[in-house]
Amino acid sequence: MPGLFHRLAETKRPRVQLVVDGAPVPALQGDTLLVALLAHGARLRESEFGDGARAGFCMMGACQDCWVWTEDGQRLRACSTPAEDGMRLLTREAPWPNLP
Ligand code: FES
Repeated sequence: MPGLFHRLAETKRPRVQLVVDGAPVPALQGDTLLVALLAHGARLRESEFGDGARAGFCMMGACQDCWVWTEDGQRLRACSTPAEDGMRLLTREAPWPNLP
């Protein structure tokens, strides 16, 4: 699937590797998570309110339209979180664990 974002410059930065929803996603050092995911695909995440795919809005940490989650449940703002090699992310909010 073509990315929503297209790289025009700085394509020689060192590569980092993410795992998103269990699949490998390449990124470049210095990318935010939002840039990495939208350079790879046409959607950033699924809305936790059930209204479909989202791609972020403000790109500056204000609108909260870009939440993604780590596999261990941490919520990250994709537009202001740097991509780091080995990050494992989910684009749907993980269900709450069943507690005894
Ligand atoms: S895109 Fe608005 S807070 Fe990230």
